[in-house]
Amino acid sequence: MTTFQPLVFSGVQPTGNLHLGNYLGAIRKFVALQDNNDCIYCVVDLHAITAQLVHDDLRNQIRSIAAAFIASGIDPVKHIVFNQSAVPQHAELAWIFNCVARIGWMNRMTQFKDKAGKDRENASLGLLAYPSLMAADILVYRATHVPVGDDQKQHLELARDIAQKFNIDFQQKIRETGTGVDMVVGEEPIHGYFPLVEPLIEGPAPRVMSLKDGTKKMSKSDPSDLSRINLMDDADTILKKIRKAKTDPDSLPSEVEGLKGRPEAENLVGIYAALADRTKDDVLQEFGGQQFSAFKPALADLAVHVLSPITEEMRRLMGDTTHIDAILRDGGERARARAEKVMAEVFDIIGFLR
Ligand code: TRP
Repeated sequence: MTTFQPLVFSGVQPTGNLHLGNYLGAIRKFVALQDNNDCIYCVVDLHAITAQLVHDDLRNQIRSIAAAFIASGIDPVKHIVFNQSAVPQHAELAWIFNCVARIGWMNRMTQFKDKAGKDRENASLGLLAYPSLMAADILVYRATHVPVGDDQKQHLELARDIAQKFNIDFQQKIRETGTGVDMVVGEEPIHGYFPLVEPLIEGPAPRVMSLKDGTKKMSKSDPSDLSRINLMDDADTILKKIRKAKTDPDSLPSEVEGLKGRPEAENLVGIYAALADRTKDDVLQEFGGQQFSAFKPALADLAVHVLSPITEEMRRLMGDTTHIDAILRDGGERARARAEKVMAEVFDIIGFLR
């Protein structure tokens, strides 16, 4: 029985500065996956204009995400790094998916509700259709595995719903054109054109919270820059931000249990553990009983040690953009060649002429 080749796809929006949460939660996972998988990593610039149309310096924002990928260790020769708008097939398949997906599916998306806020009527149509474009990003390569944060789970379920509806609605055509693949969904063998994607959510990635409020996610939209560590922060800035991070007056517990109800302590210990590739228990065995005045400098040193090579390489790449532009152009060409094949088959299945 044939089945889909495993293929990893993920995307990052070029809006705002990348921070430690993006690095530990996403980019580091992307790096780890490339050893055993074929991977495509995309700077999703078409998504960037859904919530806000006009951006200062979008081009450099796009480059800086690509630079972060490369500086973190993603290999753009073995794998593919490109920006979404360079491959028009994403938008083309998104249109088709707009006709597959139902308005009710989109209206249920919690991220849409959050981003649109109270004035939903005034949100862009693109913001509503965002998940349909996201499904197209993945499925235009018939990718099977998608590393994302927890907040993207609902969007990936929607991508499965779109794939499934397409597979069912066009099952006859898929068979006639001989383009389909036998697959098993749950227990059930089916024949379809698009895979039902699997999220890759678990793993060591912690939820990295704000340095100013341990109950809120670290976010590029937080007005206080002290709430996050940006990938482009220099060592002094990192030291200062960790020194000023919110804590409580108690010393660190010796076991994870003792972090309950202490969100700031839990966050800092979690960040330490993730940066050091150790468990929280292990970290607490070392630091349990110590004051934050002792723990914070150790955390700051570790953060600088892990991040500064990445920061330096990003700065180098951004200093002369010809290299990064060449990487994106090459990635775009290779991605387009793959996407063109899929779209030719999709046109055939639907019955378009070209
Ligand atoms: N919506 C994702 C986010 O905000 C970004 C994204 C767009 C994406 N297309 C994707 C992620 C495809 C994974 C796969 O994080």
